[in-house]
Amino acid sequence: MLCVLDYGSQYTQLIARRLRGQGFFTEVLPGRLSATEVAQHKPDGIILSGSPRSVGSDQDPDPALLSLGVPVLGLCFGYQFMAQHLGGRVEPSTHREYGSATVNKTLAGKTDPLTARLSMTTPVWMSHGDSVVELPPGADLILQSAGKPAGFALRSRRLWGLQFHPEVYHTPEGKLLLEAFARDICRLTPDWNLRAELSEIKAKLAAQLHGVGEVVCAVSGGVDSTVLAVLLSQVCKVRALFVDHGFLRAYDLLNLKRVFQNFPNISLEVVDAQARFWAALDGISDPEQKRLIIGRLFVKTFADHVGEKHFTHLAQGTIYSDVIESAAAVHGGAAHIKSHHNVGGFPQDARVQLVEPLRPFFKDEVRELGVLLGIDSEILHQHPFPGPGLAIRCVGELRRDRVDILRRADAIFYEELVRRDMYLRTWQAFVALLPVRTVGVMGDQRSYEHALAIRAVSSVDAMTADVTEFSLAELLPIAARLINEVRGINRVVYDLTTKPPGTIEWE
Ligand code: XMP
Repeated sequence: MLCVLDYGSQYTQLIARRLRGQGFFTEVLPGRLSATEVAQHKPDGIILSGSPRSVGSDQDPDPALLSLGVPVLGLCFGYQFMAQHLGGRVEPSTHREYGSATVNKTLAGKTDPLTARLSMTTPVWMSHGDSVVELPPGADLILQSAGKPAGFALRSRRLWGLQFHPEVYHTPEGKLLLEAFARDICRLTPDWNLRAELSEIKAKLAAQLHGVGEVVCAVSGGVDSTVLAVLLSQVCKVRALFVDHGFLRAYDLLNLKRVFQNFPNISLEVVDAQARFWAALDGISDPEQKRLIIGRLFVKTFADHVGEKHFTHLAQGTIYSDVIESAAAVHGGAAHIKSHHNVGGFPQDARVQLVEPLRPFFKDEVRELGVLLGIDSEILHQHPFPGPGLAIRCVGELRRDRVDILRRADAIFYEELVRRDMYLRTWQAFVALLPVRTVGVMGDQRSYEHALAIRAVSSVDAMTADVTEFSLAELLPIAARLINEVRGINRVVYDLTTKPPGTIEWE
Protein backbone atom coordinates (compact mmCIF):
# COMPACT_ATOMS: atom_id res chain seq x y z
CA MET A 1 0.00 0.00 0.00
CA LEU A 2 1.13 3.56 -0.74
CA CYS A 3 0.52 6.55 1.54
CA VAL A 4 0.20 10.11 0.31
CA LEU A 5 0.85 12.62 3.06
CA ASP A 6 -1.29 15.71 2.61
CA TYR A 7 0.32 19.12 3.14
CA GLY A 8 -2.57 21.05 1.64
CA SER A 9 -1.96 20.87 -2.10
CA GLN A 10 -5.09 21.06 -4.19
CA TYR A 11 -3.83 17.99 -6.07
CA THR A 12 -3.31 15.63 -3.12
CA GLN A 13 -6.41 13.52 -3.73
CA LEU A 14 -5.56 13.34 -7.39
CA ILE A 15 -2.25 11.61 -6.60
CA ALA A 16 -4.08 8.84 -4.76
CA ARG A 17 -6.78 8.64 -7.39
CA ARG A 18 -4.25 8.27 -10.21
CA LEU A 19 -2.33 5.53 -8.43
CA ARG A 20 -5.50 3.61 -7.61
CA GLY A 21 -6.54 3.97 -11.24
CA GLN A 22 -3.25 2.29 -12.15
CA GLY A 23 -3.98 -0.61 -9.78
CA PHE A 24 -1.95 0.51 -6.74
CA PHE A 25 -3.99 0.92 -3.56
CA THR A 26 -3.21 4.32 -2.05
CA GLU A 27 -4.37 6.11 1.08
CA VAL A 28 -4.24 9.83 1.91
CA LEU A 29 -3.05 10.62 5.44
CA PRO A 30 -2.88 14.00 7.22
CA GLY A 31 0.52 15.68 6.90
CA ARG A 32 0.73 16.32 10.64
CA LEU A 33 1.26 12.60 11.36
CA SER A 34 4.61 11.63 12.82
CA ALA A 35 6.81 9.08 11.11
CA THR A 36 5.91 6.54 13.82
CA GLU A 37 2.20 7.06 13.15
CA VAL A 38 2.70 6.75 9.40
CA ALA A 39 4.74 3.57 9.93
CA GLN A 40 1.75 1.99 11.68
CA HIS A 41 -0.03 1.99 8.31
CA LYS A 42 2.79 -0.23 7.00
CA PRO A 43 3.29 1.70 3.76
CA ASP A 44 5.37 0.22 0.95
CA GLY A 45 6.07 3.74 -0.26
CA ILE A 46 5.36 7.32 0.84
CA ILE A 47 4.56 10.36 -1.28
CA LEU A 48 4.90 13.85 0.19
CA SER A 49 2.36 16.16 -1.48
CA GLY A 50 2.68 19.77 -2.53
CA SER A 51 1.60 22.62 -0.27
CA PRO A 52 0.64 26.28 -0.50
CA ARG A 53 3.31 26.92 2.17
CA SER A 54 7.07 27.25 1.85
CA VAL A 55 9.45 24.92 3.61
CA GLY A 56 10.46 26.03 7.09
CA SER A 57 7.12 26.45 8.89
CA ASP A 58 6.05 24.42 11.92
CA GLN A 59 3.90 22.37 9.54
CA ASP A 60 6.82 20.75 7.73
CA PRO A 61 6.82 16.95 7.42
CA ASP A 62 8.40 14.91 10.19
CA PRO A 63 12.04 14.52 8.98
CA ALA A 64 12.07 10.97 10.40
CA LEU A 65 9.83 10.01 7.45
CA LEU A 66 12.99 10.06 5.34
CA SER A 67 14.66 7.46 7.55
CA LEU A 68 11.92 4.83 7.73
CA GLY A 69 13.71 2.81 5.05
CA VAL A 70 10.60 3.03 2.87
CA PRO A 71 10.94 4.71 -0.56
CA VAL A 72 9.79 8.35 -0.46
CA LEU A 73 8.79 10.53 -3.40
CA GLY A 74 8.49 14.26 -2.71
CA LEU A 75 6.42 16.38 -5.08
CA CYS A 76 6.80 20.15 -5.33
CA PHE A 77 6.77 21.23 -1.65
CA GLY A 78 7.61 17.63 -0.70
CA TYR A 79 10.62 17.81 -3.04
CA GLN A 80 11.75 21.14 -1.63
CA PHE A 81 11.40 19.85 1.92
CA MET A 82 13.51 16.80 1.10
CA ALA A 83 16.18 18.86 -0.65
CA GLN A 84 16.46 21.32 2.21
CA HIS A 85 16.39 18.71 4.93
CA LEU A 86 19.02 16.57 3.22
CA GLY A 87 21.49 19.46 3.00
CA GLY A 88 20.55 21.12 -0.29
CA ARG A 89 19.40 24.71 -0.70
CA VAL A 90 15.91 26.09 -1.50
CA GLU A 91 15.29 29.68 -2.47
CA PRO A 92 12.24 31.71 -3.40
CA SER A 93 12.05 31.96 -7.20
CA THR A 94 12.25 35.39 -8.75
CA HIS A 95 8.79 34.74 -10.17
CA ARG A 96 6.15 32.18 -9.35
CA GLU A 97 6.27 29.39 -11.90
CA TYR A 98 2.74 28.31 -12.71
CA GLY A 99 1.79 26.41 -15.82
CA SER A 100 3.37 24.25 -18.48
CA ALA A 101 7.13 23.75 -18.64
CA THR A 102 9.48 21.27 -20.26
CA VAL A 103 11.87 18.96 -18.46
CA ASN A 104 14.92 17.19 -19.90
CA LYS A 105 16.37 13.93 -18.70
CA THR A 106 20.00 14.03 -17.61
CA LEU A 107 22.53 11.25 -18.04
CA ALA A 108 21.75 9.99 -14.52
CA GLY A 109 18.05 10.26 -15.34
CA LYS A 110 18.45 7.79 -18.19
CA THR A 111 19.26 4.94 -15.81
CA ASP A 112 17.34 6.00 -12.72
CA PRO A 113 14.39 3.65 -12.00
CA LEU A 114 12.02 6.63 -11.63
CA THR A 115 12.75 8.28 -14.94
CA ALA A 116 14.27 5.52 -17.12
CA ARG A 117 11.12 5.11 -19.23
CA LEU A 118 10.42 8.85 -19.57
CA SER A 119 11.06 10.59 -22.91
CA MET A 120 14.26 12.66 -23.08
CA THR A 121 12.14 15.83 -23.18
CA THR A 122 8.61 15.98 -21.86
CA PRO A 123 6.02 18.62 -20.87
CA VAL A 124 5.13 18.92 -17.19
CA TRP A 125 2.90 21.07 -14.97
CA MET A 126 4.66 23.36 -12.51
CA SER A 127 3.05 25.31 -9.71
CA HIS A 128 5.58 26.66 -7.24
CA GLY A 129 7.12 29.79 -5.79
CA ASP A 130 10.31 28.21 -4.40
CA SER A 131 13.07 26.31 -6.20
CA VAL A 132 15.85 23.93 -5.25
CA VAL A 133 19.05 25.74 -6.24
CA GLU A 134 21.51 23.23 -4.81
CA LEU A 135 20.98 19.49 -4.60
CA PRO A 136 21.65 17.59 -1.36
CA PRO A 137 25.11 16.01 -1.16
CA GLY A 138 25.20 12.63 -2.88
CA ALA A 139 21.98 13.23 -4.83
CA ASP A 140 21.88 12.75 -8.60
CA LEU A 141 20.22 15.30 -10.81
CA ILE A 142 17.77 13.27 -12.92
CA LEU A 143 15.67 16.01 -14.52
CA GLN A 144 16.19 19.66 -15.28
CA SER A 145 14.06 22.45 -16.61
CA ALA A 146 15.52 25.52 -18.30
CA GLY A 147 18.92 24.60 -16.87
CA LYS A 148 17.62 24.36 -13.28
CA PRO A 149 17.05 21.22 -11.17
CA ALA A 150 13.60 19.67 -11.60
CA GLY A 151 14.18 16.26 -10.03
CA PHE A 152 16.75 14.38 -7.97
CA ALA A 153 17.40 10.89 -6.69
CA LEU A 154 19.26 9.81 -3.59
CA ARG A 155 19.18 6.13 -4.37
CA SER A 156 21.28 4.96 -1.43
CA ARG A 157 18.49 6.23 0.86
CA ARG A 158 15.63 5.40 -1.54
CA LEU A 159 14.55 9.04 -1.80
CA TRP A 160 13.30 10.83 -4.92
CA GLY A 161 11.96 14.32 -5.53
CA LEU A 162 10.20 16.11 -8.41
CA GLN A 163 9.63 19.84 -8.69
CA PHE A 164 6.47 19.40 -10.81
CA HIS A 165 3.15 17.56 -10.53
CA PRO A 166 3.10 14.13 -12.24
CA GLU A 167 -0.51 13.56 -11.08
CA VAL A 168 -2.20 16.23 -13.23
CA TYR A 169 -3.43 15.71 -16.78
CA HIS A 170 -1.13 18.49 -17.97
CA THR A 171 1.85 16.23 -17.26
CA PRO A 172 1.16 13.63 -19.95
CA GLU A 173 3.99 11.29 -18.93
CA GLY A 174 3.22 11.69 -15.21
CA LYS A 175 1.52 8.30 -15.27
CA LEU A 176 4.87 6.68 -16.16
CA LEU A 177 6.56 8.35 -13.19
CA LEU A 178 3.88 7.29 -10.69
CA GLU A 179 3.89 3.78 -12.10
CA ALA A 180 7.69 3.58 -11.94
CA PHE A 181 7.63 4.69 -8.31
CA ALA A 182 4.95 2.17 -7.32
CA ARG A 183 6.07 -0.80 -9.40
CA ASP A 184 9.80 -0.50 -9.95
CA ILE A 185 10.83 1.30 -6.78
CA CYS A 186 8.27 0.14 -4.20
CA ARG A 187 7.98 -3.28 -5.88
CA LEU A 188 4.18 -3.31 -5.84
CA THR A 189 1.97 -5.32 -8.18
CA PRO A 190 -0.88 -3.40 -9.82
CA ASP A 191 -3.61 -5.74 -8.58
CA TRP A 192 -6.13 -3.36 -7.02
CA ASN A 193 -9.36 -3.02 -8.95
CA LEU A 194 -12.91 -2.09 -8.18
CA ARG A 195 -14.50 -5.31 -9.37
CA ALA A 196 -12.43 -7.37 -6.92
CA GLU A 197 -12.97 -4.69 -4.28
CA LEU A 198 -16.74 -4.89 -4.76
CA SER A 199 -16.78 -8.64 -4.02
CA GLU A 200 -14.73 -7.96 -0.92
CA ILE A 201 -17.05 -5.20 0.34
CA LYS A 202 -20.05 -7.42 -0.22
CA ALA A 203 -18.42 -10.24 1.73
CA LYS A 204 -17.55 -7.82 4.58
CA LEU A 205 -21.08 -6.41 4.58
CA ALA A 206 -22.58 -9.89 4.62
CA ALA A 207 -20.48 -10.69 7.71
CA GLN A 208 -21.30 -7.36 9.42
CA LEU A 209 -25.02 -7.67 8.67
CA HIS A 210 -25.38 -11.37 9.30
CA GLY A 211 -28.76 -11.98 10.94
CA VAL A 212 -29.80 -8.31 10.57
CA GLY A 213 -33.34 -8.04 9.23
CA GLU A 214 -33.09 -4.57 7.77
CA VAL A 215 -30.79 -1.58 7.41
CA VAL A 216 -32.11 1.98 7.40
CA CYS A 217 -30.63 4.67 5.20
CA ALA A 218 -31.54 8.13 4.00
CA VAL A 219 -31.60 8.56 0.25
CA SER A 220 -31.60 11.84 -1.64
CA GLY A 221 -31.49 10.69 -5.24
CA GLY A 222 -27.79 11.66 -5.37
CA VAL A 223 -25.03 9.33 -6.51
CA ASP A 224 -23.64 8.30 -3.11
CA SER A 225 -26.86 7.43 -1.33
CA THR A 226 -28.24 5.64 -4.40
CA VAL A 227 -25.12 3.47 -4.75
CA LEU A 228 -25.17 2.87 -0.99
CA ALA A 229 -28.78 1.63 -0.99
CA VAL A 230 -28.25 -0.63 -3.99
CA LEU A 231 -25.02 -2.05 -2.57
CA LEU A 232 -26.69 -2.85 0.76
CA SER A 233 -29.64 -4.40 -1.02
CA GLN A 234 -27.31 -7.09 -2.34
CA VAL A 235 -26.84 -8.44 1.18
CA CYS A 236 -29.97 -7.48 3.16
CA LYS A 237 -33.26 -5.63 3.13
CA VAL A 238 -32.99 -1.86 2.92
CA ARG A 239 -35.44 0.66 4.29
CA ALA A 240 -34.62 3.75 2.21
CA LEU A 241 -36.10 6.98 3.54
CA PHE A 242 -36.53 9.91 1.25
CA VAL A 243 -37.36 13.14 3.06
CA ASP A 244 -39.21 15.57 0.83
CA HIS A 245 -38.41 18.95 2.34
CA GLY A 246 -40.22 20.83 -0.38
CA PHE A 247 -37.10 22.11 -2.15
CA LEU A 248 -36.61 19.23 -4.51
CA ARG A 249 -36.59 19.37 -8.25
CA ALA A 250 -39.54 18.16 -10.26
CA TYR A 251 -37.76 14.96 -11.29
CA ASP A 252 -35.79 13.92 -8.17
CA LEU A 253 -38.25 11.40 -6.77
CA LEU A 254 -39.28 10.05 -10.17
CA ASN A 255 -35.68 9.24 -11.06
CA LEU A 256 -35.09 7.48 -7.77
CA LYS A 257 -38.24 5.37 -8.08
CA ARG A 258 -37.16 4.36 -11.56
CA VAL A 259 -33.74 3.18 -10.31
CA PHE A 260 -35.01 1.37 -7.24
CA GLN A 261 -37.70 -0.55 -9.09
CA ASN A 262 -34.93 -2.83 -10.37
CA PHE A 263 -33.79 -3.69 -6.85
CA PRO A 264 -36.53 -5.57 -5.00
CA ASN A 265 -34.71 -5.60 -1.64
CA ILE A 266 -35.12 -1.83 -1.33
CA SER A 267 -38.33 -0.44 0.09
CA LEU A 268 -38.55 3.28 -0.56
CA GLU A 269 -40.47 5.36 1.99
CA VAL A 270 -41.22 8.95 1.07
CA VAL A 271 -41.66 11.22 4.06
CA ASP A 272 -43.66 14.25 3.02
CA ALA A 273 -42.30 16.92 5.37
CA GLN A 274 -43.03 19.93 3.18
CA ALA A 275 -45.48 21.51 5.63
CA ARG A 276 -43.01 21.17 8.50
CA PHE A 277 -40.17 22.75 6.53
CA TRP A 278 -42.28 25.57 5.14
CA ALA A 279 -43.55 26.41 8.61
CA ALA A 280 -39.94 27.10 9.61
CA LEU A 281 -38.66 28.63 6.37
CA ASP A 282 -41.38 30.84 4.97
CA GLY A 283 -39.98 34.36 4.64
CA ILE A 284 -36.39 33.41 5.58
CA SER A 285 -33.74 35.14 3.42
CA ASP A 286 -30.38 34.54 5.05
CA PRO A 287 -28.45 31.67 3.37
CA GLU A 288 -26.80 30.40 6.54
CA GLN A 289 -30.12 30.44 8.37
CA LYS A 290 -31.70 28.48 5.53
CA ARG A 291 -28.95 25.87 5.73
CA LEU A 292 -29.08 25.56 9.51
CA ILE A 293 -32.87 25.26 9.65
CA ILE A 294 -32.96 22.69 6.86
CA GLY A 295 -30.07 20.68 8.32
CA ARG A 296 -31.61 20.59 11.77
CA LEU A 297 -35.14 19.80 10.59
CA PHE A 298 -33.85 17.14 8.25
CA VAL A 299 -32.17 15.25 11.08
CA LYS A 300 -35.26 15.68 13.28
CA THR A 301 -37.66 14.51 10.58
CA PHE A 302 -35.50 11.52 9.83
CA ALA A 303 -35.09 10.61 13.50
CA ASP A 304 -38.84 11.02 14.21
CA HIS A 305 -39.70 8.85 11.28
CA VAL A 306 -37.34 5.97 11.88
CA GLY A 307 -37.84 6.23 15.64
CA GLU A 308 -41.38 4.93 15.22
CA LYS A 309 -39.93 1.53 14.57
CA HIS A 310 -36.99 -0.14 16.26
CA PHE A 311 -33.88 -0.26 14.12
CA THR A 312 -30.34 -1.39 14.78
CA HIS A 313 -28.30 -0.44 11.71
CA LEU A 314 -28.03 2.93 10.02
CA ALA A 315 -26.16 3.20 6.73
CA GLN A 316 -24.46 6.44 5.66
CA GLY A 317 -23.09 7.34 2.25
CA THR A 318 -19.85 8.82 3.62
CA ILE A 319 -17.19 8.72 0.90
CA TYR A 320 -13.41 9.09 1.02
CA SER A 321 -13.26 12.80 0.23
CA ASP A 322 -15.64 13.49 3.17
CA VAL A 323 -13.26 11.60 5.44
CA ILE A 324 -10.17 13.41 4.15
CA GLU A 325 -11.85 16.81 4.09
CA SER A 326 -13.17 16.59 7.61
CA ALA A 327 -9.67 15.68 8.78
CA ALA A 328 -8.28 18.63 6.81
CA ALA A 329 -10.96 20.95 8.17
CA VAL A 330 -10.16 19.88 11.73
CA HIS A 331 -6.40 20.10 11.38
CA GLY A 332 -5.90 22.57 8.58
CA GLY A 333 -7.97 25.40 10.08
CA ALA A 334 -9.85 25.91 6.80
CA ALA A 335 -11.93 29.11 6.67
CA HIS A 336 -15.66 28.69 7.17
CA ILE A 337 -17.43 29.62 3.95
CA LYS A 338 -20.71 27.71 4.07
CA SER A 339 -22.25 25.23 6.49
CA HIS A 340 -22.80 22.48 3.98
CA HIS A 341 -25.70 20.33 4.93
CA ASN A 342 -25.38 16.71 3.98
CA VAL A 343 -27.16 13.63 5.10
CA GLY A 344 -25.20 12.66 8.16
CA GLY A 345 -24.64 13.95 11.63
CA PHE A 346 -27.65 12.06 12.94
CA PRO A 347 -27.89 11.89 16.70
CA GLN A 348 -25.75 8.90 17.55
CA ASP A 349 -27.36 6.23 19.60
CA ALA A 350 -24.92 3.67 20.99
CA ARG A 351 -27.38 0.89 20.18
CA VAL A 352 -27.39 1.84 16.51
CA GLN A 353 -24.50 0.55 14.44
CA LEU A 354 -23.24 2.72 11.60
CA VAL A 355 -22.66 1.04 8.26
CA GLU A 356 -20.44 3.03 5.87
CA PRO A 357 -19.26 0.76 3.07
CA LEU A 358 -18.34 3.63 0.70
CA ARG A 359 -15.83 5.22 3.10
CA PRO A 360 -12.73 4.05 1.19
CA PHE A 361 -13.83 5.31 -2.22
CA PHE A 362 -13.48 8.50 -4.25
CA LYS A 363 -16.49 9.91 -6.04
CA ASP A 364 -15.60 8.53 -9.45
CA GLU A 365 -14.92 5.14 -7.89
CA VAL A 366 -18.40 5.26 -6.31
CA ARG A 367 -19.74 5.90 -9.82
CA GLU A 368 -17.81 2.92 -11.16
CA LEU A 369 -19.17 0.75 -8.34
CA GLY A 370 -22.63 1.97 -9.38
CA VAL A 371 -21.98 0.78 -12.93
CA LEU A 372 -20.81 -2.62 -11.63
CA LEU A 373 -24.00 -2.82 -9.56
CA GLY A 374 -26.13 -2.20 -12.64
CA ILE A 375 -27.37 1.31 -11.77
CA ASP A 376 -28.55 3.50 -14.63
CA SER A 377 -25.67 5.67 -15.84
CA GLU A 378 -27.88 8.75 -16.11
CA ILE A 379 -28.24 8.77 -12.32
CA LEU A 380 -24.55 8.07 -11.81
CA HIS A 381 -23.47 10.99 -13.96
CA GLN A 382 -25.88 13.56 -12.63
CA HIS A 383 -24.57 16.91 -11.46
CA PRO A 384 -24.12 17.55 -7.75
CA PHE A 385 -27.26 18.88 -6.06
CA PRO A 386 -26.93 20.53 -2.65
CA GLY A 387 -28.70 19.08 0.40
CA PRO A 388 -30.79 22.26 0.98
CA GLY A 389 -31.89 21.96 -2.66
CA LEU A 390 -33.76 24.78 -4.36
CA ALA A 391 -33.88 26.73 -1.07
CA ILE A 392 -30.38 28.09 -1.70
CA ARG A 393 -31.07 28.66 -5.40
CA CYS A 394 -34.10 30.79 -4.59
CA VAL A 395 -31.80 33.67 -3.75
CA GLY A 396 -33.20 35.84 -0.97
CA GLU A 397 -36.63 35.39 0.53
CA LEU A 398 -38.19 31.93 0.52
CA ARG A 399 -41.78 32.03 -0.63
CA ARG A 400 -43.75 29.19 -2.16
CA ASP A 401 -44.59 31.13 -5.34
CA ARG A 402 -40.90 31.94 -5.90
CA VAL A 403 -39.79 28.34 -5.34
CA ASP A 404 -42.51 27.13 -7.74
CA ILE A 405 -41.23 29.50 -10.45
CA LEU A 406 -37.70 28.25 -9.86
CA ARG A 407 -38.79 24.61 -9.99
CA ARG A 408 -40.51 25.13 -13.34
CA ALA A 409 -37.47 26.95 -14.73
CA ASP A 410 -35.13 24.24 -13.42
CA ALA A 411 -37.14 21.47 -15.13
CA ILE A 412 -37.00 23.27 -18.49
CA PHE A 413 -33.32 24.08 -18.11
CA TYR A 414 -32.50 20.44 -17.30
CA GLU A 415 -34.55 19.17 -20.23
CA GLU A 416 -32.77 21.56 -22.60
CA LEU A 417 -29.28 20.67 -21.34
CA VAL A 418 -29.94 16.99 -21.91
CA ARG A 419 -31.68 17.50 -25.25
CA ARG A 420 -28.83 19.65 -26.59
CA ASP A 421 -26.07 17.32 -25.32
CA MET A 422 -24.84 20.04 -23.00
CA TYR A 423 -25.44 18.23 -19.70
CA LEU A 424 -22.32 16.09 -19.77
CA ARG A 425 -20.16 18.93 -21.11
CA THR A 426 -20.40 20.80 -17.84
CA TRP A 427 -19.62 19.64 -14.32
CA GLN A 428 -22.61 21.36 -12.75
CA ALA A 429 -25.29 23.62 -14.20
CA PHE A 430 -28.43 25.07 -12.73
CA VAL A 431 -30.64 28.12 -12.58
CA ALA A 432 -31.02 30.48 -9.63
CA LEU A 433 -33.95 32.82 -9.12
CA LEU A 434 -32.68 36.29 -8.27
CA PRO A 435 -34.23 38.65 -5.75
CA VAL A 436 -34.63 41.33 -8.39
CA ARG A 437 -37.54 42.18 -10.61
CA THR A 438 -36.85 43.80 -13.93
CA VAL A 439 -38.87 45.68 -16.50
CA GLY A 440 -39.57 44.04 -19.83
CA VAL A 441 -41.98 44.19 -22.69
CA MET A 442 -43.98 41.10 -23.51
CA GLY A 443 -46.45 41.39 -26.36
CA ASP A 444 -47.38 45.03 -26.15
CA GLN A 445 -47.48 44.97 -22.40
CA ARG A 446 -44.98 46.18 -19.86
CA SER A 447 -43.84 43.35 -17.61
CA TYR A 448 -42.20 43.58 -14.23
CA GLU A 449 -41.01 40.10 -13.34
CA HIS A 450 -38.18 38.05 -11.84
CA ALA A 451 -34.68 37.68 -13.24
CA LEU A 452 -33.13 34.23 -13.49
CA ALA A 453 -29.42 33.39 -13.60
CA ILE A 454 -27.94 30.44 -15.47
CA ARG A 455 -24.84 29.04 -13.79
CA ALA A 456 -22.64 26.42 -15.48
CA VAL A 457 -19.21 25.49 -14.17
CA SER A 458 -16.38 23.10 -14.94
CA SER A 459 -14.59 21.68 -11.94
CA VAL A 460 -12.81 18.62 -10.62
CA ASP A 461 -13.62 18.70 -6.94
CA ALA A 462 -15.78 21.83 -6.43
CA MET A 463 -12.87 23.55 -4.66
CA THR A 464 -12.19 25.65 -7.73
CA ALA A 465 -14.40 26.13 -10.77
CA ASP A 466 -14.26 27.74 -14.18
CA VAL A 467 -17.20 29.09 -16.11
CA THR A 468 -18.31 26.57 -18.72
CA GLU A 469 -17.97 28.16 -22.13
CA PHE A 470 -21.32 27.35 -23.67
CA SER A 471 -21.83 29.30 -26.88
CA LEU A 472 -24.38 32.07 -27.19
CA ALA A 473 -25.99 30.07 -29.97
CA GLU A 474 -26.63 27.33 -27.42
CA LEU A 475 -27.74 29.62 -24.61
CA LEU A 476 -30.04 31.99 -26.46
CA PRO A 477 -32.80 29.51 -27.34
CA ILE A 478 -32.74 28.17 -23.78
CA ALA A 479 -33.13 31.67 -22.37
CA ALA A 480 -35.95 32.34 -24.84
CA ARG A 481 -37.76 29.17 -23.78
CA LEU A 482 -37.39 30.01 -20.09
CA ILE A 483 -38.85 33.48 -20.61
CA ASN A 484 -41.66 32.26 -22.85
CA GLU A 485 -42.72 29.28 -20.78
CA VAL A 486 -42.16 30.21 -17.17
CA ARG A 487 -44.64 32.75 -16.06
CA GLY A 488 -42.96 35.18 -13.67
CA ILE A 489 -39.59 35.35 -15.45
CA ASN A 490 -38.79 38.07 -17.97
CA ARG A 491 -34.98 38.16 -17.96
CA VAL A 492 -32.17 35.59 -18.01
CA VAL A 493 -28.49 36.29 -17.33
CA TYR A 494 -25.40 34.05 -17.59
CA ASP A 495 -23.11 33.98 -14.57
CA LEU A 496 -19.46 34.69 -15.54
CA THR A 497 -17.88 34.23 -12.12
CA THR A 498 -15.13 31.69 -11.45
CA LYS A 499 -14.54 30.09 -8.03
CA PRO A 500 -12.70 31.72 -6.36
CA PRO A 501 -13.64 34.53 -5.99
CA GLY A 502 -17.26 33.36 -6.34
CA THR A 503 -18.71 30.16 -4.98
CA ILE A 504 -20.59 27.75 -7.22
CA GLU A 505 -24.00 28.28 -5.62
CA TRP A 506 -25.28 31.84 -5.26
CA GLU A 507 -25.93 31.36 -1.57
P1 XMP B 1 -20.01 26.17 -3.30
O1 XMP B 1 -21.27 26.95 -3.52
O2 XMP B 1 -19.59 26.12 -1.85
O3 XMP B 1 -20.38 24.68 -3.68
O4 XMP B 1 -18.90 26.58 -4.21
C1 XMP B 1 -19.48 23.64 -3.87
C2 XMP B 1 -20.29 22.39 -4.19
O5 XMP B 1 -21.05 22.01 -3.04
C3 XMP B 1 -22.44 22.07 -3.32
N1 XMP B 1 -23.07 22.69 -2.16
C4 XMP B 1 -23.67 21.99 -1.18
N2 XMP B 1 -23.85 20.67 -1.04
N3 XMP B 1 -24.98 21.08 0.98
C5 XMP B 1 -24.54 20.22 0.05
O6 XMP B 1 -24.78 19.02 0.19
C6 XMP B 1 -24.83 22.44 0.91
O7 XMP B 1 -25.26 23.18 1.78
C7 XMP B 1 -24.13 22.91 -0.25
N4 XMP B 1 -23.78 24.15 -0.65
C8 XMP B 1 -23.11 24.00 -1.84
C9 XMP B 1 -22.58 22.89 -4.58
O8 XMP B 1 -23.74 22.53 -5.31
C10 XMP B 1 -21.29 22.57 -5.32
O9 XMP B 1 -21.37 21.36 -6.02
